[in-house]
Amino acid sequence: MVPSTVHIPVLLQEVIQWSGLERPKTGSKTVVDGTLGGGGHAWHLIQALNPNDFLIGIDRDSGAIDRVTELFDRLLPPNGETNSDPLAPVTSTTRSTCRVRLIQSSYRELPKLMVDHNIPKADCILLDLGLSSDQLEDATRGFSFRTGGTLDLRFCTDEGISASDLLAKIDEKELADIIYQFGEERFSRRIARAIVERRRTSPIRTAEELADLVHRCVPGGKIHGRIDSATRTFQALRIAVNNELEHLKTAIERLPDCLAPGGRLLIISFHSLEDRIVKHAMRESQVLQVLTKKPVLPSDQETYENPRSRSAKLRVAERIE
Ligand SMILES: C[S@@+](CC[C@H](N)C(=O)[O-])C[C@H]1O[C@@H](n2cnc3c(N)ncnc32)[C@H](O)[C@@H]1O
Repeated sequence: MVPSTVHIPVLLQEVIQWSGLERPKTGSKTVVDGTLGGGGHAWHLIQALNPNDFLIGIDRDSGAIDRVTELFDRLLPPNGETNSDPLAPVTSTTRSTCRVRLIQSSYRELPKLMVDHNIPKADCILLDLGLSSDQLEDATRGFSFRTGGTLDLRFCTDEGISASDLLAKIDEKELADIIYQFGEERFSRRIARAIVERRRTSPIRTAEELADLVHRCVPGGKIHGRIDSATRTFQALRIAVNNELEHLKTAIERLPDCLAPGGRLLIISFHSLEDRIVKHAMRESQVLQVLTKKPVLPSDQETYENPRSRSAKLRVAERIE
C-alpha cells in the first residue's frame, strides 16, 4: 500500500481565496494543480468545484501521483460521496465531486497535456514549487541529510542523472558556481574543493556523507543560525539535477496561454531565485495582470504551526480578457 501523505499545504486559505473559483461561470471550470505533491491543495480546490468541473493534478514524481491516486480513490468513492479532509480521520459528507485526472509530467508540459488529454483552458493554475515533506521523509532518495539515503535528489528518477553521479564527474569550478548560485552559499568554493578531493579516494554515495563533508567545510560546523549548514548545498544540488529553474522559466512563458480569460495563475515560491523569476515574468507578461503587488506571506500562526511555510511567497496574476 502507498503511504499516506505527511505534507501540510502552505498558504492554504490564501490559495483558495486568490483562486477566484468563487466567481460564477457559465459552463464547467478547470483547475490545474501543477505540483500535486501530497494532494493537500488539490483536495481543497476540489471542494470549491462542482461535478461538471475538472481538477487536473500534475507531478514529476510518480510516487506523488501514486500516493494521491490512492488517497483520492479512498476519499472520492464513485458514488460521489467524499470525506471532508484528507488529513483528518475519515468522516463522510455528501458533497458530489468534480472530475479528477492525475498525470505524471512536468507542469511545463501543460500546453501539450491539454491537447493530448483534451483539457479545456484553465480557470486557475497553481504551482507550489520545490519539494514535498513526503519526498523529504523518503529515506531512499537523499532529500533529507538526516537519513542515510542514496544521494539522488531527483523528482523523477527516469530523467537526468543523480546528485551522486553529478558529484562524481562535475568540474570543480562549475560545482562551486552551482552551490553559490542555487544555494547562495558563501563557502561554495571550499565545499566544491572538498568534494573534488574526497572523490579521488571514494565516491559520495549517501546524503549523510555529503552532509558530513559540508559540516566540516563551514565555520561553526553543523548548525548555522537556525538551519543546518548543509541545507544550502542540498538545495543547490536539487535545483541543478532537476533543472528546476529552467522548468519554471519555460512554464511561466507557456502557462498564460493555458488560462481562460480571467483565469488565474498562482505561484508559491520558497527562495529568492524562484521568486525573482516569478515576479519579473508576471510583470513583463503582455497577457497577465498582476493581482498581488507584494507577495502574500504566511501568518505568524502558520509559520509557528508549520515552520516549513516560513519562506513561502504567493504571487497571483490574472489572464487579461
Ligand atoms: C511543495 S510540493 C507540492 C505540495 C502540494 N501543493 C500539496 O498541497 O501537497 C512540490 C511538488 O512539486 C513537484 N514538482 C517539482 N517540480 C515539478 C515540475 N516541474 N513539474 C511538476 N511537478 C513538479 C515535486 O515533485 C513535489 O511533489
